[in-house]
Amino acid sequence: MPRYTIVTMPGDGIGNQVLPEALRLLSAVGLDAAYVHADIGWECWRNEGNALPERTIVLLETHKLGLFGAITSKPKKEADAELKPELRGKGLSYFSPIVGMRQRFNLDICLRPCIGFAGNPLNFIRKKVGGGFEEPQIRTVVFRQNTEGLYAGVEWSNPSEKVREALATHPKFKPFAAVPGPDMAISVRIITRAAAQRIIEAAFQYARTHGYKSVTLCEKPNVLRETSGLMEEVARQVQKRYAEIALWSTNIDAQMMWLTKNPEEYGVVVASNLFGDVISDAFAGLVGGLGFAASGNIGKEVAVFEPTHGSAPKYAELDPPIVNPIAMILAAAMLLDHIGESEKSRRIWDSVAAVVREGKVRTYDMLRLSGGPDVIQRGAATTTQMTDAIISKLRKSQ
Ligand code: NAI
Ligand code: MG
Repeated sequence: MPRYTIVTMPGDGIGNQVLPEALRLLSAVGLDAAYVHADIGWECWRNEGNALPERTIVLLETHKLGLFGAITSKPKKEADAELKPELRGKGLSYFSPIVGMRQRFNLDICLRPCIGFAGNPLNFIRKKVGGGFEEPQIRTVVFRQNTEGLYAGVEWSNPSEKVREALATHPKFKPFAAVPGPDMAISVRIITRAAAQRIIEAAFQYARTHGYKSVTLCEKPNVLRETSGLMEEVARQVQKRYAEIALWSTNIDAQMMWLTKNPEEYGVVVASNLFGDVISDAFAGLVGGLGFAASGNIGKEVAVFEPTHGSAPKYAELDPPIVNPIAMILAAAMLLDHIGESEKSRRIWDSVAAVVREGKVRTYDMLRLSGGPDVIQRGAATTTQMTDAIISKLRKSQ
C-alpha cells in the first residue's frame, strides 16, 4: 500500500495540462503515493448540473489530500445556456466548486507563498537613487482567511423588510433607510474569533518555523472598527506567545503602496478574506505572476493545493502546450510540506530555482511574449520542456 493517496482534480482547460506535470515531479522525487482522479468543473456542470459532484466530495473526505488544477466558470446566463437540455428549467444554479470545496471542508487557511526566484525576468525591480536598478529579494508568505469576511456570501439585493428592520437598529443605517429596496445591495462582513485565531496562529507558527522576524496584519481597523478591530485584538493576544516575532499592523490601502516601494520588508502577512485575496495577488505580481503563484487551502482535516491561475481556455487546445507549469509544480511542493515531506519539497523548490536562475529554459510568460502557437519558434519552452528541465536539476542535486 502506498503511504499517501492524493485526489487529483485537473478540472478544465490548462488544468489538464499542468496537473500531470506536477505528478511527474512527485514521482521524480520518489513520493510513495497513489493518485485517484476526481471530476470537477465545467463539464460536470454541463452534464450533471453540479460542478463539484458528490463522488468528488467523498474522495476528498476519504483521502483528505487534494491537488487541483483549474476550472472554468462563466456568468449565469451562459451557465444556464450550456446546461444539458434535460437539466434545464430544474432550478439548478451554477456554484463555484472552489468556493464549494472551501466551505464543505472548512478549508479556512489559504497559504500563498510569494517568493521571488533569482534570475526570473518577471521579478520586480526598482530604480536606485544614484542610478541603475536593484532587485529586492521578496520572500513574502500571505495567510488569507478563506471562508469568512466579505466572501461569506451573506448578501442581499432588494433586502426584505426584516433585514431592513434589523439594519435600522444601527444608527449608521439612517442615511440609507429611505433608499428603495431595488436600488440597494448589501454585503455583510463576518469575522469570527475562532477563525481569526486559526489564521493568525497559523501565520505566527509559520513565521516561527521558517525564521521570519515579523507578522504583518493587513486590515483597516481605523474604519472597519468591529471586524478589523477583532482581527487586531486577536493578533495582539496571539503575539504574546511569540515573543521573538514582531506584530506589525498596516492598512490595506497603505500596504498596497508600500509593497511596490519596499516589498522585501514584509515577511509573513495575514489578512481577512478579501484583503488577503487582494494582497496575495499583488505580491504574486511582483514575483512572476500567474505562472508562479501557488496556494494551499488548508482545513483541520482536508487540504487542497492549487495554482492560483484559472483554466486559460485560449491556450488549452494548443499542441504542444505552452503554459508555465511552475505554479502547479510549486503547489505540489506545498502539498509535500503539508504532509511533512519537507526534504522532497525543498528539492523541488531548489530545482525550480536552478532552472530559473540558469535562464535557458523559459516558457512564453517568462519571455514576456503574448501567448499563441508561434511562441515556440520565438524561443519559448513548452510546458513539458519546462518540467523536463526541472526534473533534470532534481536528478543532479541527488
Ligand atoms: P486565467 O488565470 O485562466 O488566465 C489569465 C491569463 O493569464 C491567461 O490568458 C494567460 O495569459 C495567463 N496565464 C494563466 N495561467 C498561466 C500559466 N500557467 N502560464 C502562463 N500564463 C498563464 O484567468 P482568466 O482568463 O481570467 O479566466 C479563465 C477561466 O478560468 C475563467 O472561466 C475563470 O472563471 C477561471 N478561473 C479559475 C480559477 C481557478 O480555477 N482557481 C482562477 C481564476 C479564473
Ligand atoms: Mg484572487
